[in-house]
Amino acid sequence: MDAKKIPAHVAIIMDGNGRWATARGKERSFGHKKGSENVDRIVSHAFSRGVKTLSLYAFSAENWARPKAEVDELMRLLKIYFKKFIKKVLKNDVRLYVMGDLEKLTPELRKLIDSDMKKSEHCKEHILNVGINYGGRQEISAAVNKLVAERKEITPESIAEALYTAPFGDPDLIIRTGGELRLSNFMLYQAAYSELYFTDVLWPDFDENEFDKAISNFSERQRRFGKISDK
Ligand code: FPP
Repeated sequence: MDAKKIPAHVAIIMDGNGRWATARGKERSFGHKKGSENVDRIVSHAFSRGVKTLSLYAFSAENWARPKAEVDELMRLLKIYFKKFIKKVLKNDVRLYVMGDLEKLTPELRKLIDSDMKKSEHCKEHILNVGINYGGRQEISAAVNKLVAERKEITPESIAEALYTAPFGDPDLIIRTGGELRLSNFMLYQAAYSELYFTDVLWPDFDENEFDKAISNFSERQRRFGKISDK
């Protein structure tokens, strides 16, 4: 594939864990466990394909409304992920960012996240950006409030600079697995000119081959950013 056509920033809405488990007669939590195993596989693969930044929607601001057992399991999986991040992911020169309101997380999880972000500060090759207790509307309103408090002018550029994504910018490609055709409050501001790719494949089944299909589909698109050509 033409290296120029590899999206620099890919964002993924990892949907379908619950249905994947239910279809196998298992608890939804089992699907989340499989889904978290798939995170490792896709993170490595995306970076090996030349993707610079990968953003993942792990837990939305609305997900707290799920049954407590499911929320607890997701938090447990996130803890496991960030505990091993340093050993497994950091060695590949990956800098971690976590976007979202982290106040609501347990002190233990927050400490792990803070420590991983700090320890990966020097990494330059790739960026992994994970959304936890994240909501696009919440992000935009917090950004505008910050600008107002600082008495700064509200412009498209100043808002972008006040978002979590300021250090690395907008996604070129947003992938959603699991068959739903919506953004579900994910990166609303940043998605203005992102290419969107939807697949029915459920997240635990979204493997390297499925990822390559999304990239290859992206590479055939002509991005015009509102102009009449992409030049
Ligand atoms: C959507 O599936 C998925 C989530 C709400 C959570 C995504 C979390 C993971 C993949 C695991 C933890 C993440 C990391 C980074 C280790 P769903 O439950 O809405 O599925 P359904 O639409 O089939 O019900």
